[in-house]
Amino acid sequence: MGQLDLRGEERLRQIVGSQGGLAPVVADLRRVLGVRVNVLVLGESGTGKEVIARALHEADPRRRHRPFVPLNCAALPEALLEAELFGYRQGAFTGAAAAHAGDFLQAEGGTLFLDEVGELPLALQPKLLRVLQERAVRRLGETREVGVDVRVVAATSRELGAAACRGEFRADLYYRLADFVIRVPPLRQRRQDLILLALHFLRACCRDFGREPCRLSPAAVAWLEARDWARNNVRELQVALKRALLLCEGSCIEPEHLEAAQLEEVSPAGALHQKLRAYEQVHLEEALARSQGNISAAARLLEMKRSTLCDRLARLGIRRQGRERD
Ligand SMILES: Nc1ncnc2c1ncn2[C@@H]1O[C@H](COP(=O)(O)OP(=O)(O)OP(=O)(O)O)[C@@H](O)[C@H]1O
Ligand SMILES: [Mg+2]
Repeated sequence: MGQLDLRGEERLRQIVGSQGGLAPVVADLRRVLGVRVNVLVLGESGTGKEVIARALHEADPRRRHRPFVPLNCAALPEALLEAELFGYRQGAFTGAAAAHAGDFLQAEGGTLFLDEVGELPLALQPKLLRVLQERAVRRLGETREVGVDVRVVAATSRELGAAACRGEFRADLYYRLADFVIRVPPLRQRRQDLILLALHFLRACCRDFGREPCRLSPAAVAWLEARDWARNNVRELQVALKRALLLCEGSCIEPEHLEAAQLEEVSPAGALHQKLRAYEQVHLEEALARSQGNISAAARLLEMKRSTLCDRLARLGIRRQGRERD
């Protein structure tokens, strides 16, 4: 068991779901606090890998006062990534006008977070391995090595072990990074956290937008619970609530707000018919709600024939009581 003080304990408890579906993850974090090991965080896209990495840093009494340095291994071309990671001496290469410490040295005493480590170019992998083995880094253009005390937390949504078996990632580096492996489960496997997270995001968005607090209707809760969120997990939920809140003018999120937000998300640009369909649906439901579900009155509001409205409602699967949903 690692070291944990009161502040660290409080920090871990701030993770939404720490006492629910993420309890096993938090138990894993406790095991490595204050222990000098590298940690590999695995999990599907949007499950909260970075949230976990930051919590590990901030809960650790030995490291929290030192820097947390994040680096996305997929975001830079190989040469820049190398310079960024290991640093360089002034004039080490064309363009190196000033010296750069490099992320390893900048993270001294703290945590280096290597995001999307599965995308680290093969040519850089032995160089990273060497730093991890020697616990020393040599900046580009320098001959001297400098010792570093850095915890590397790497994250990826790839199955890195399998990638190593296929030769797509160096097995020796994989073992080095994976002193300790933490798996963040997908949202569909921790359903008890779903509504907690939804309310957390709703509160945060209302605060950001300067709006009165907003709630979820029971039907909206059911709508959220019926989904598996497999595409982007917690991030998908966060985006859905933010968009729903923007579409909702009152103080209660209903399924139609989520539905309209969802269709937008599925069809970023191309599928115009889906957007039109979503728009039509919201519009027809609104007319029905305003006319208390009376089709003839709704048709008059929409300036269309009653039979046409009936056809459209059937096509869109809208029931006469527009607001009533499964
Ligand atoms: N347990 C949680 N509590 C509060 N917010 C969370 C939690 N998990 C995830 N989030 C939020 O969800 C979003 C996605 O989380 P994060 O970036 O950590 O996921 P990730 O696994 O790193 O995603 P990716 O695979 O896309 O890099 C972030 O905005 C984060 O703040
Ligand atoms: Mg991430």
